[in-house]
Amino acid sequence: MKRTWKPRWVVENRTPTFISPRPGHVKFGAVKYLWGNVPAIDVIQLGQNEGAEFQTPINLLFAASGDLRNIVLSVTSLPQSYRSPLSIVINDCDIDIVARNLIFLLIMFIEKDSNTAAEFMLHVWYSALVTEACYTLLQKKLKPLIEDVCNKIAGKPSRTLLGKTWHFGGSSLRLVLTREAWIRLPSYFNVPNGMTKKKAHAVRQAVVNPPLAGLGMIKYRNCGVLLPFGQPCEAFVIPNPTVFNSCDEWPMMDSADPSDGWSIKTFLATKAGPAKKDMYGQLHHYLKRLFTKFHCYLHSKPVSFELQHVYAQVLEETLAGKKFDRIEISNICDSNYLGIDITLRTLGPLLRSPSANRHATLITTFLNAVPEARMVFRMTEPFAAGLITKYMDRYDFAHAASSAGLKMKEEHTIIPAWPLRVNDSLHPAQKDREDFKLLLGTAHIGHERYMEWKVGAVRVAADTQLGGSCILS
Ligand SMILES: C[S@@+](CC[C@H](N)C(=O)[O-])C[C@H]1O[C@@H](n2cnc3c(N)ncnc32)[C@H](O)[C@@H]1O
Repeated sequence: MKRTWKPRWVVENRTPTFISPRPGHVKFGAVKYLWGNVPAIDVIQLGQNEGAEFQTPINLLFAASGDLRNIVLSVTSLPQSYRSPLSIVINDCDIDIVARNLIFLLIMFIEKDSNTAAEFMLHVWYSALVTEACYTLLQKKLKPLIEDVCNKIAGKPSRTLLGKTWHFGGSSLRLVLTREAWIRLPSYFNVPNGMTKKKAHAVRQAVVNPPLAGLGMIKYRNCGVLLPFGQPCEAFVIPNPTVFNSCDEWPMMDSADPSDGWSIKTFLATKAGPAKKDMYGQLHHYLKRLFTKFHCYLHSKPVSFELQHVYAQVLEETLAGKKFDRIEISNICDSNYLGIDITLRTLGPLLRSPSANRHATLITTFLNAVPEARMVFRMTEPFAAGLITKYMDRYDFAHAASSAGLKMKEEHTIIPAWPLRVNDSLHPAQKDREDFKLLLGTAHIGHERYMEWKVGAVRVAADTQLGGSCILS
């Protein structure tokens, strides 16, 4: 670096962006979430809700799903004894996300060998390159299913919603899209024209430079394939067609990382190969086992999936009266998405009333509330709890809940209010210090706030007057 070099903000005599009053850090790369940015949660938690012996069908709605991680973790965490039908609606307004989720599920249903299916799903999800064998499955077995539908709907109006259900033993997979979106779908199975392994590496590297980090991270960021440290990646030669939509863009932010979507404590507890502290190798083995378990579940118990591609605000129309035992909405309740009022008003009516299931819960995640409150109220207070109270007043959560006929649950039964917070007492124990170090090594802050909601008394009374509900537990 030249001795005379000065940062641009000094030359331009302005405040640098990193201390601007806007929240958050400066982002680089496309704002798209092909990989979740908070650890997966089991939204059912049967044991601490309906009870481990529960045997009634369960309806789940993921209204702004992002990737499939919450679905995979929820299904695989069910007790062995649970055998009743599961109905899972997975919606996202981004067609890239819906197409990838469809491909993950098709891999699970079509590939009969659970090991191979888990391996393919893992790489299509998290690797920039895939093997010839994986690409052949996508091209020869999966794409024809979509092309078949595309041929049949050629004459339909482009904006009409069209559904197709595939049956696999006792399970099924339904996809509802406009004709326009259906026609686009085959492209997610094809490598874009002119895209090569070399080109894929170059466009990825332009966004994802290896940071000063552990060897495992450097290797993953360099080669882009989620493998244990010692495992060669030469067999991965085909750019992942579900990631690269064009020859010139890596579609995620520089900071996006597969480890953000899973509990670091859990996957670091996984045994993996001979390399020590091989975080990405441990994540690989953890996911491989989880996806294998998911495959076994789908091939032995009844699950019906429905994938939709609409804004969450219109789900009440597209779901035509269906009610759910759990609704998970990611962080679209944050004020930079829908905000709490629209979220509760549009999704609350889809939640089952306590007279049908007193454990029915809508789960909201706030990732931006604390930093927003810190900025708005210019508070330096380190304790997020005080900030969230102010935030709730600012957006009048009490009114939002009552006008949606919902009530905030005082006691959480799905996910703790602050699951990523470390013990911040003045006298932390050794374990707290270790948790803190672990948190520092992740993309999480500790201010991620979850809230759980159930149907309130006013709607219960209205539902009762209408009659017709059954008590489940
Ligand atoms: C809210 S974003 C943020 C990332 C998220 N925290 C995660 O871990 O995936 C999650 C997903 O919500 C989707 N989304 C955003 N607004 C939506 C809306 N109004 N309706 C449906 N999906 C929405 C995005 O396309 C994205 O895939």
